[in-house]
Amino acid sequence: MSASLDEVAYKMCAGGKGILAADESSSTIKKRFDDIGVESTFDNRRDYREMLFRSDEAMTKYISGVILFDETIRQKAKDGTPLVELIQKAGSLPGIKVDAGAKPQPGAPGETITEGLDGLGGRLKEYYDLGARFSKWRAVIDIGNGIPSYTSLIANAQALARYAALCQEANIVPIVEPEVLMDGDHDIDRCYHVTEWVLKETFQQLYYARIRLEGMVLKPNMVVSGKKCPTQASVEEVAEKTVRLLKNCVPSAVPGIAFLSGGQSDEDATAHLDAMIKIGGLPWNLTFSYGRALQAAPQKAWSGKDENWAAGQAAFTHRAKMNYLAALGQWSAEVESKKAA
Ligand code: 13P
Repeated sequence: MSASLDEVAYKMCAGGKGILAADESSSTIKKRFDDIGVESTFDNRRDYREMLFRSDEAMTKYISGVILFDETIRQKAKDGTPLVELIQKAGSLPGIKVDAGAKPQPGAPGETITEGLDGLGGRLKEYYDLGARFSKWRAVIDIGNGIPSYTSLIANAQALARYAALCQEANIVPIVEPEVLMDGDHDIDRCYHVTEWVLKETFQQLYYARIRLEGMVLKPNMVVSGKKCPTQASVEEVAEKTVRLLKNCVPSAVPGIAFLSGGQSDEDATAHLDAMIKIGGLPWNLTFSYGRALQAAPQKAWSGKDENWAAGQAAFTHRAKMNYLAALGQWSAEVESKKAA
């Protein structure tokens, strides 16, 4: 059982390939569609995601797995093929978001606790039968005046650990995602210290929950300046501090670390990953598990129109390829600008 967990976890992050986070909840995808003037209907969500999953070059060469939302893992393409089958046929792994979202945490004003543990064992069994081989749970940690608190950190770390244990029991690789938000005006060093605290507590709880580290993937934020911080750290500083932090917090038994993009620009998310790989000497595979930084461009190019299908696929393929090159340490501003020549 653990051998296949380990193999899946390794495969998710190896060889430059990374993960497409296409697991936007109904309310998040509505926001994304609002931005491009598309109504968020069952069919439009299907058409958009079908376009991504039928992008042959991206899916076969650059994407190791796709995180789906509950609706999507059950949805069929226009011709009746299950969307999960499109992903599998491309040699990629279907995954599933299983948390029920971050809710206000009692006793911790302004902070959240991610819900969704009740009945999770049964849901995981069903998702496995639907084809999911990995899953995702996202804890959300905000930096602000007097927060985060220990109350919130420990509750979220414990929930992540209980989720991971249920996943491994169901032979599903858990993506453990404790996201420290980049909103706010804090500087990069505050981000470093909060993320360090979050990762230390998370790995402690994973240990108490007897998680097999070889059979999981960590999905962290990078160490970056807050969006509203007047001083924005350089690419080199982000890469150096993120690698230093991870080396201090993540055991080398973890096979892969797949970053979230968290609101970084498409190109920043790519450049940061590339710069980290170029530092070298890393004990785990580092790669991407981006939502926005992979999808903003194709969403815009597609804009809900059938005639833009090829343009949407080209935009997705370009971003997937740039991040693949970054995960190999082979990206540059020159290859970036060769875009859709
Ligand atoms: P972003 O890359 O847009 O942050 O999304 C990744 C994700 O899966 C968040 O849970």
